[in-house]
Amino acid sequence: MITLGIESSCDETACGIVDDTLKVYANCLYSQIKEHRSFGGVVPEIAARAHLEKISAIVDEALTTSGLTINDIDQIAYTRGPGLMGPLLVGASFAKGLAHDLQIPSIGINHLEGHIAAVFLSNPDIQPPFCCLTVSGGHTELTLVKENFEYELLGRTRDDAAGEAFDKCGKLLGLGYPAGPVVGKAADGGNRKFVRFPRSFAKQDTGEFSFSGLKTSVLRYVQDNSEEFIQENLKDICASLEEAIVDILCEKSMWALKKTGLSHIVVCGGVSANRHLRKRMETLGKKNNFTAFFPDFEYCTDNGAMIAAIGQLKKNSNMLHLTDDAVTPWLELGK
Ligand code: KG4
Ligand code: ZN
Repeated sequence: MITLGIESSCDETACGIVDDTLKVYANCLYSQIKEHRSFGGVVPEIAARAHLEKISAIVDEALTTSGLTINDIDQIAYTRGPGLMGPLLVGASFAKGLAHDLQIPSIGINHLEGHIAAVFLSNPDIQPPFCCLTVSGGHTELTLVKENFEYELLGRTRDDAAGEAFDKCGKLLGLGYPAGPVVGKAADGGNRKFVRFPRSFAKQDTGEFSFSGLKTSVLRYVQDNSEEFIQENLKDICASLEEAIVDILCEKSMWALKKTGLSHIVVCGGVSANRHLRKRMETLGKKNNFTAFFPDFEYCTDNGAMIAAIGQLKKNSNMLHLTDDAVTPWLELGK
Protein backbone atom coordinates (compact mmCIF):
# COMPACT_ATOMS: atom_id res chain seq x y z
CA MET A 1 0.00 0.00 0.00
CA ILE A 2 1.58 3.27 -1.15
CA THR A 3 0.44 6.85 -0.41
CA LEU A 4 1.61 9.89 -2.31
CA GLY A 5 1.30 13.17 -0.38
CA ILE A 6 1.12 16.67 -1.81
CA GLU A 7 1.78 19.80 0.27
CA SER A 8 1.14 23.29 -1.12
CA SER A 9 -0.34 25.31 1.78
CA CYS A 10 2.24 28.10 1.75
CA ASP A 11 5.56 28.52 -0.06
CA GLU A 12 6.79 24.94 -0.46
CA THR A 13 5.67 22.77 -3.37
CA ALA A 14 6.24 19.32 -1.92
CA CYS A 15 5.60 15.66 -2.68
CA GLY A 16 6.36 12.68 -0.47
CA ILE A 17 5.74 8.96 -0.89
CA VAL A 18 5.36 6.49 2.00
CA ASP A 19 4.17 2.91 2.43
CA ASP A 20 1.96 1.39 5.13
CA THR A 21 4.92 0.97 7.50
CA LEU A 22 5.65 4.71 7.03
CA LYS A 23 8.88 3.95 5.17
CA VAL A 24 9.65 7.08 3.16
CA TYR A 25 10.41 6.38 -0.52
CA ALA A 26 10.77 10.04 -1.52
CA ASN A 27 10.44 13.51 -0.01
CA CYS A 28 11.01 16.16 -2.69
CA LEU A 29 10.24 19.86 -2.59
CA TYR A 30 10.70 23.19 -4.26
CA SER A 31 11.05 26.08 -1.82
CA GLN A 32 9.87 29.44 -3.16
CA ILE A 33 12.27 31.60 -1.11
CA LYS A 34 13.66 33.20 -4.28
CA GLU A 35 10.17 34.26 -5.44
CA HIS A 36 9.26 35.98 -2.15
CA ARG A 37 12.60 37.26 -0.83
CA SER A 38 12.41 40.78 -2.26
CA PHE A 39 8.94 41.24 -0.68
CA GLY A 40 10.15 40.19 2.79
CA GLY A 41 7.32 37.64 3.13
CA VAL A 42 5.07 35.26 1.19
CA VAL A 43 2.90 36.89 -1.51
CA PRO A 44 -0.14 34.57 -1.89
CA GLU A 45 -0.74 35.20 -5.60
CA ILE A 46 2.92 34.65 -6.50
CA ALA A 47 2.94 31.51 -4.34
CA ALA A 48 -0.08 30.06 -6.17
CA ARG A 49 1.52 30.68 -9.58
CA ALA A 50 4.82 29.15 -8.48
CA HIS A 51 3.01 26.02 -7.20
CA LEU A 52 1.28 25.70 -10.55
CA GLU A 53 4.60 25.91 -12.37
CA LYS A 54 6.41 23.38 -10.19
CA ILE A 55 3.91 20.82 -8.95
CA SER A 56 4.05 18.45 -11.89
CA ALA A 57 7.88 18.38 -11.91
CA ILE A 58 8.05 17.80 -8.13
CA VAL A 59 5.62 14.85 -8.31
CA ASP A 60 7.68 13.43 -11.22
CA GLU A 61 10.88 13.89 -9.20
CA ALA A 62 9.35 12.11 -6.19
CA LEU A 63 8.28 9.17 -8.37
CA THR A 64 11.73 8.92 -9.98
CA THR A 65 13.43 9.12 -6.56
CA SER A 66 11.16 6.43 -5.14
CA GLY A 67 11.85 3.97 -7.94
CA LEU A 68 8.09 3.46 -8.19
CA THR A 69 5.77 4.19 -11.09
CA ILE A 70 2.55 6.16 -10.98
CA ASN A 71 0.62 2.88 -11.16
CA ASP A 72 2.13 1.77 -7.82
CA ILE A 73 0.32 4.62 -6.01
CA ASP A 74 -2.80 3.49 -4.11
CA GLN A 75 -4.04 6.82 -2.75
CA ILE A 76 -3.18 10.51 -2.91
CA ALA A 77 -3.25 12.73 0.18
CA TYR A 78 -3.16 16.51 -0.18
CA THR A 79 -3.25 19.46 2.23
CA ARG A 80 -6.76 20.92 2.36
CA GLY A 81 -5.98 23.59 4.99
CA PRO A 82 -5.12 25.63 6.91
CA GLY A 83 -3.11 27.73 4.50
CA LEU A 84 -3.30 30.20 1.64
CA MET A 85 -6.37 29.64 -0.52
CA GLY A 86 -4.70 29.92 -3.95
CA PRO A 87 -1.77 27.62 -3.10
CA LEU A 88 -4.13 25.10 -1.44
CA LEU A 89 -6.37 25.02 -4.53
CA VAL A 90 -3.43 24.28 -6.82
CA GLY A 91 -2.34 21.25 -4.74
CA ALA A 92 -5.88 19.98 -4.21
CA SER A 93 -6.85 20.31 -7.89
CA PHE A 94 -3.69 18.54 -9.00
CA ALA A 95 -4.20 15.74 -6.46
CA LYS A 96 -7.88 15.25 -7.29
CA GLY A 97 -7.24 15.31 -11.04
CA LEU A 98 -4.43 12.76 -10.80
CA ALA A 99 -6.43 10.51 -8.46
CA HIS A 100 -9.44 10.67 -10.78
CA ASP A 101 -7.26 9.75 -13.74
CA LEU A 102 -5.72 6.80 -11.85
CA GLN A 103 -9.09 5.83 -10.35
CA ILE A 104 -7.72 5.85 -6.82
CA PRO A 105 -8.97 7.81 -3.76
CA SER A 106 -7.80 11.35 -2.93
CA ILE A 107 -7.80 12.44 0.73
CA GLY A 108 -7.94 15.99 2.12
CA ILE A 109 -5.47 16.39 5.00
CA ASN A 110 -5.25 18.91 7.82
CA HIS A 111 -1.78 20.47 7.55
CA LEU A 112 -1.42 20.64 11.37
CA GLU A 113 -2.17 16.93 11.65
CA GLY A 114 0.52 16.41 9.01
CA HIS A 115 3.08 18.23 11.17
CA ILE A 116 2.24 15.94 14.11
CA ALA A 117 2.48 12.84 11.88
CA ALA A 118 6.00 13.94 10.83
CA VAL A 119 7.26 12.73 14.19
CA PHE A 120 6.00 9.17 13.52
CA LEU A 121 8.30 8.95 10.49
CA SER A 122 11.29 8.79 12.81
CA ASN A 123 9.58 7.58 16.02
CA PRO A 124 6.97 5.02 14.87
CA ASP A 125 6.40 3.65 18.38
CA ILE A 126 4.99 6.78 20.04
CA GLN A 127 1.45 6.07 21.19
CA PRO A 128 -1.24 8.58 22.20
CA PRO A 129 -2.05 10.12 24.57
CA PHE A 130 0.77 12.67 24.41
CA CYS A 131 1.13 16.44 24.50
CA CYS A 132 2.04 18.26 21.33
CA LEU A 133 3.64 21.65 20.82
CA THR A 134 3.12 22.79 17.24
CA VAL A 135 5.42 25.69 16.38
CA SER A 136 5.39 26.90 12.79
CA GLY A 137 5.26 30.12 10.82
CA GLY A 138 1.48 30.31 11.13
CA HIS A 139 0.70 28.38 14.31
CA THR A 140 1.77 28.02 17.91
CA GLU A 141 -0.43 25.73 19.91
CA LEU A 142 -0.43 23.10 22.62
CA THR A 143 -2.64 20.09 22.08
CA LEU A 144 -3.52 16.92 23.91
CA VAL A 145 -3.32 14.19 21.24
CA LYS A 146 -5.73 11.37 22.06
CA GLU A 147 -6.39 8.04 20.37
CA ASN A 148 -8.25 7.80 17.05
CA PHE A 149 -7.00 11.15 15.76
CA GLU A 150 -8.86 13.14 18.40
CA TYR A 151 -7.38 16.37 19.73
CA GLU A 152 -8.00 18.72 22.63
CA LEU A 153 -6.64 22.24 22.37
CA LEU A 154 -4.80 23.25 25.56
CA GLY A 155 -3.69 26.70 24.45
CA ARG A 156 -2.48 28.76 21.53
CA THR A 157 -0.99 32.11 20.68
CA ARG A 158 -3.05 35.25 21.01
CA ASP A 159 -1.12 37.00 18.27
CA ASP A 160 2.03 35.99 16.38
CA ALA A 161 3.26 32.43 15.97
CA ALA A 162 6.73 31.43 17.22
CA GLY A 163 8.09 31.12 13.67
CA GLU A 164 6.60 34.51 12.84
CA ALA A 165 8.36 35.96 15.92
CA PHE A 166 11.67 34.53 14.69
CA ASP A 167 11.03 35.86 11.17
CA LYS A 168 9.75 39.33 12.09
CA CYS A 169 12.34 40.01 14.81
CA GLY A 170 15.07 38.68 12.52
CA LYS A 171 13.83 40.96 9.76
CA LEU A 172 14.09 43.95 12.14
CA LEU A 173 17.71 42.90 12.73
CA GLY A 174 18.30 42.93 8.96
CA LEU A 175 18.41 39.17 8.52
CA GLY A 176 16.13 38.91 5.47
CA TYR A 177 13.44 36.31 4.85
CA PRO A 178 12.82 33.77 6.26
CA ALA A 179 14.94 34.84 9.22
CA GLY A 180 14.14 31.95 11.61
CA PRO A 181 16.91 29.57 10.53
CA VAL A 182 19.36 32.52 10.15
CA VAL A 183 18.70 33.68 13.74
CA GLY A 184 19.24 30.08 14.87
CA LYS A 185 22.61 29.87 13.12
CA ALA A 186 23.79 33.33 14.22
CA ALA A 187 22.80 32.59 17.83
CA ASP A 188 25.09 29.59 18.11
CA GLY A 189 27.83 30.41 20.63
CA GLY A 190 26.38 33.88 21.40
CA ASN A 191 25.78 35.40 24.83
CA ARG A 192 22.15 34.55 25.64
CA LYS A 193 22.07 37.09 28.49
CA PHE A 194 23.25 40.05 26.36
CA VAL A 195 19.72 41.58 26.22
CA ARG A 196 16.77 40.60 28.37
CA PHE A 197 13.81 40.43 25.97
CA PRO A 198 10.32 39.90 27.46
CA ARG A 199 8.77 36.46 27.95
CA SER A 200 5.02 37.18 27.98
CA PHE A 201 2.83 34.72 29.92
CA ALA A 202 5.79 32.36 30.35
CA LYS A 203 5.34 31.82 34.08
CA GLN A 204 1.55 32.20 34.15
CA ASP A 205 -0.86 29.33 34.68
CA THR A 206 -2.24 29.39 31.15
CA GLY A 207 -1.66 27.66 27.82
CA GLU A 208 -1.75 30.99 26.01
CA PHE A 209 1.26 32.43 24.23
CA SER A 210 1.97 35.99 23.08
CA PHE A 211 4.91 37.15 20.97
CA SER A 212 3.79 40.67 20.01
CA GLY A 213 5.50 42.27 23.04
CA LEU A 214 8.75 40.58 22.09
CA LYS A 215 8.47 42.00 18.57
CA THR A 216 7.87 45.51 19.93
CA SER A 217 10.80 45.13 22.29
CA VAL A 218 13.15 44.11 19.44
CA LEU A 219 11.86 47.05 17.37
CA ARG A 220 12.62 49.48 20.25
CA TYR A 221 16.04 47.92 20.73
CA VAL A 222 16.84 48.41 17.04
CA GLN A 223 15.58 52.02 17.18
CA ASP A 224 17.54 52.80 20.35
CA ASN A 225 20.88 51.49 19.11
CA SER A 226 23.04 52.39 16.11
CA GLU A 227 23.26 50.11 13.10
CA GLU A 228 26.97 49.57 13.82
CA PHE A 229 26.19 48.48 17.39
CA ILE A 230 23.55 46.01 16.14
CA GLN A 231 25.93 44.58 13.52
CA GLU A 232 28.84 44.31 15.97
CA ASN A 233 26.71 42.49 18.53
CA LEU A 234 24.42 40.57 16.17
CA LYS A 235 25.46 37.16 17.48
CA ASP A 236 24.65 38.06 21.09
CA ILE A 237 21.39 39.80 20.16
CA CYS A 238 20.27 36.76 18.14
CA ALA A 239 21.24 34.47 21.03
CA SER A 240 19.20 36.63 23.43
CA LEU A 241 16.21 36.62 21.07
CA GLU A 242 16.40 32.87 20.57
CA GLU A 243 16.70 32.39 24.35
CA ALA A 244 13.53 34.41 24.97
CA ILE A 245 11.48 32.41 22.42
CA VAL A 246 12.87 29.07 23.57
CA ASP A 247 12.26 29.98 27.24
CA ILE A 248 8.60 30.66 26.47
CA LEU A 249 8.20 27.40 24.51
CA CYS A 250 9.88 25.36 27.26
CA GLU A 251 7.84 26.91 30.08
CA LYS A 252 4.58 26.34 28.19
CA SER A 253 5.52 22.75 27.38
CA MET A 254 6.13 22.13 31.08
CA TRP A 255 2.77 23.72 31.84
CA ALA A 256 0.99 21.36 29.40
CA LEU A 257 2.75 18.27 30.76
CA LYS A 258 1.85 19.23 34.32
CA LYS A 259 -1.76 19.98 33.40
CA THR A 260 -2.28 16.67 31.59
CA GLY A 261 -0.07 14.55 33.88
CA LEU A 262 1.61 13.10 30.77
CA SER A 263 5.32 12.45 30.31
CA HIS A 264 5.65 12.59 26.51
CA ILE A 265 5.61 15.69 24.34
CA VAL A 266 5.94 15.89 20.57
CA VAL A 267 7.37 19.13 19.20
CA CYS A 268 6.62 19.74 15.52
CA GLY A 269 6.38 22.44 12.82
CA GLY A 270 9.18 24.51 11.28
CA VAL A 271 10.53 25.90 14.57
CA SER A 272 11.09 22.34 15.85
CA ALA A 273 14.18 22.42 13.57
CA ASN A 274 15.73 24.95 15.98
CA ARG A 275 18.74 23.25 17.54
CA HIS A 276 18.70 25.28 20.75
CA LEU A 277 15.04 24.38 21.36
CA ARG A 278 15.83 20.69 20.77
CA LYS A 279 18.76 20.81 23.20
CA ARG A 280 16.87 22.73 25.89
CA MET A 281 13.87 20.37 25.73
CA GLU A 282 16.14 17.35 26.04
CA THR A 283 17.93 18.78 29.09
CA LEU A 284 14.66 19.89 30.66
CA GLY A 285 13.19 16.42 30.08
CA LYS A 286 16.06 14.71 31.86
CA LYS A 287 15.61 17.00 34.87
CA ASN A 288 11.83 16.75 34.98
CA ASN A 289 11.18 13.18 33.87
CA PHE A 290 9.61 13.72 30.49
CA THR A 291 10.64 12.84 26.95
CA ALA A 292 10.43 15.26 24.05
CA PHE A 293 10.18 13.82 20.54
CA PHE A 294 11.11 15.81 17.45
CA PRO A 295 10.78 14.95 13.76
CA ASP A 296 14.03 14.44 11.83
CA PHE A 297 15.20 17.79 10.42
CA GLU A 298 13.89 17.20 6.90
CA TYR A 299 10.37 16.61 8.26
CA CYS A 300 10.19 19.69 10.55
CA THR A 301 9.39 22.34 7.94
CA ASP A 302 6.61 21.81 5.38
CA ASN A 303 7.05 18.62 3.36
CA GLY A 304 5.05 16.05 1.41
CA ALA A 305 6.06 12.97 3.44
CA MET A 306 4.18 14.24 6.51
CA ILE A 307 0.99 14.65 4.45
CA ALA A 308 1.40 11.17 2.97
CA ALA A 309 2.10 9.82 6.49
CA ILE A 310 -1.14 11.04 8.05
CA GLY A 311 -3.13 9.84 5.01
CA GLN A 312 -1.50 6.44 5.36
CA LEU A 313 -2.02 6.28 9.15
CA LYS A 314 -5.73 7.02 8.74
CA LYS A 315 -6.00 4.35 6.06
CA ASN A 316 -4.17 1.85 8.32
CA SER A 317 -6.68 2.60 11.12
CA ASN A 318 -9.75 2.57 8.85
CA MET A 319 -10.32 6.21 9.79
CA LEU A 320 -10.46 7.75 6.34
CA HIS A 321 -14.18 8.40 6.79
CA LEU A 322 -13.15 11.16 9.24
CA THR A 323 -11.50 13.17 6.49
CA ASP A 324 -13.21 15.91 4.54
CA ASP A 325 -11.94 17.01 1.15
CA ALA A 326 -13.00 20.67 0.98
CA VAL A 327 -10.16 23.17 0.74
CA THR A 328 -10.31 25.85 3.43
CA PRO A 329 -7.84 28.51 4.67
CA TRP A 330 -8.92 28.12 8.33
CA LEU A 331 -8.98 24.69 9.89
CA GLU A 332 -8.75 23.50 13.49
CA LEU A 333 -6.96 20.29 14.39
CA GLY A 334 -9.38 17.36 14.32
CA LYS A 335 -11.47 18.89 11.53
O1 KG4 B 1 6.08 24.54 9.38
P1 KG4 B 1 6.65 25.56 8.49
O2 KG4 B 1 7.60 25.11 7.40
O3 KG4 B 1 5.54 26.38 7.76
C1 KG4 B 1 4.31 26.69 8.35
O4 KG4 B 1 3.45 25.80 8.43
O5 KG4 B 1 4.21 27.85 8.79
O6 KG4 B 1 7.38 26.64 9.43
C2 KG4 B 1 8.11 27.69 8.91
C3 KG4 B 1 8.62 28.53 10.06
C4 KG4 B 1 9.24 29.84 9.60
O7 KG4 B 1 8.73 30.87 10.42
C5 KG4 B 1 10.73 29.62 9.83
O8 KG4 B 1 11.44 30.81 10.09
C6 KG4 B 1 10.72 28.71 11.04
O9 KG4 B 1 9.64 27.82 10.79
N1 KG4 B 1 11.99 27.97 11.17
C7 KG4 B 1 12.86 28.15 12.19
C8 KG4 B 1 13.94 27.28 11.94
N2 KG4 B 1 13.69 26.60 10.78
C9 KG4 B 1 12.48 27.03 10.35
N3 KG4 B 1 12.82 28.97 13.27
C10 KG4 B 1 13.87 28.91 14.11
N4 KG4 B 1 14.94 28.11 13.95
C11 KG4 B 1 15.03 27.28 12.88
N5 KG4 B 1 16.09 26.49 12.73
ZN1 ZN C 1 3.60 23.96 8.19
